[in-house]
Amino acid sequence: MKESGEKRIIRIHVGQERINMKDLVVYFSLEGNTQYVAERIKEQTGADLLRLVPKKAYHDKGFAKFFWGGKSAVMAEKPALEEISIDLDVYDRIIFGFPVWASNYAPPLRTFIEIYKDRLKDMEFAAYACQSGSGAEKAFIKLANTIGIDHFDHSEIFIDPKAKTNDDTEKQIERFCEWLKGEPQELLPEERLQEIVEEIQEGEPSSDIRYSLNVDGILLDLEQEKPSPSFHDTLLKLINEKKMTNVEFYKKAWIDRKLFSAIKNNANYKPKKETAIACCLGLQLSLSEADSLLETAGYSLSRSQNRDRVIRYCISHKIFKIEQVNQILYEVGEECLGC
Ligand SMILES: Cc1cc2nc3c(=O)[nH]c(=O)nc-3n(C[C@H](O)[C@H](O)[C@H](O)COP(=O)(O)O)c2cc1C
Repeated sequence: MKESGEKRIIRIHVGQERINMKDLVVYFSLEGNTQYVAERIKEQTGADLLRLVPKKAYHDKGFAKFFWGGKSAVMAEKPALEEISIDLDVYDRIIFGFPVWASNYAPPLRTFIEIYKDRLKDMEFAAYACQSGSGAEKAFIKLANTIGIDHFDHSEIFIDPKAKTNDDTEKQIERFCEWLKGEPQELLPEERLQEIVEEIQEGEPSSDIRYSLNVDGILLDLEQEKPSPSFHDTLLKLINEKKMTNVEFYKKAWIDRKLFSAIKNNANYKPKKETAIACCLGLQLSLSEADSLLETAGYSLSRSQNRDRVIRYCISHKIFKIEQVNQILYEVGEECLGC
């Protein structure tokens, strides 16, 4: 009896760049509350931290604190920041953390976004705010507008979490971290897995015949010789047709942001077969759509190769979750996608 595949099925990215999904918490904190949450996130999820430090420190006491900080927020200032030495390309997601100032996000975040705007494209975002009363919802909307997104995948409001720390706050931070760590993988139940393996081993009926011979049985249908659109064009068209955002797509395909950007920015991109297959699964294509997309990259799913047959089976039976495809591949002794 084979050892359960569960332990082997890990979330790694498919394609050339096998970097683990990495989070960066970008935050500003005047009095330590936002910093407190950032540190908990680091402890509980392994995210990296980037604290934004204005060159000219804000007042942190008395009336001057509220006056100058409030003015800076209301005037949407962009205070100069101490040098940032971080490679943003390493990260797939940014979690913005800020104290609410005058129902807005604290201004150092605005400077950061202005500096890195181009590099933030196609990233995922979450945000948390620390406040003592209200205003965070408005601040999230303003921050999302500044970044150029509709809304955050997730946003969390903490009430002075360091100054008023208690069990509820700690639990709230834990829940936030659980969300950040992502949904548990959805594996196939053992019985269903065995049924699928049997079906694959018995052999699926061959389906569409894609090439036709002409009346003399000599020449290939000339239609097939027309140049087909590139992988790049076809992929972007399909993402659009399936009404997916880029982020939704590359998350479903287990492709990291860097690899997706490489594909998106290079009209002649030649993906590895592994990546092209992951794209078919991420887009939830029909078998004929998948065949067409793979063909644009010069690949096909062979009926005589076991691994390809499993992928064909999964696509034609709408098993698109990569963890489930990997579960089946593992069960029949084939290499998992991304391994
Ligand atoms: C200039 C300034 C403006 C503030 N405006 C608000 C506000 O509009 N709403 C609110 O609930 N708290 C407001 N606060 C309180 C902070 O948002 C809150 O104490 C937060 O937890 C501080 O985070 P920090 O310790 O990371 O700086 C303000 C604080 C300052 C200094």
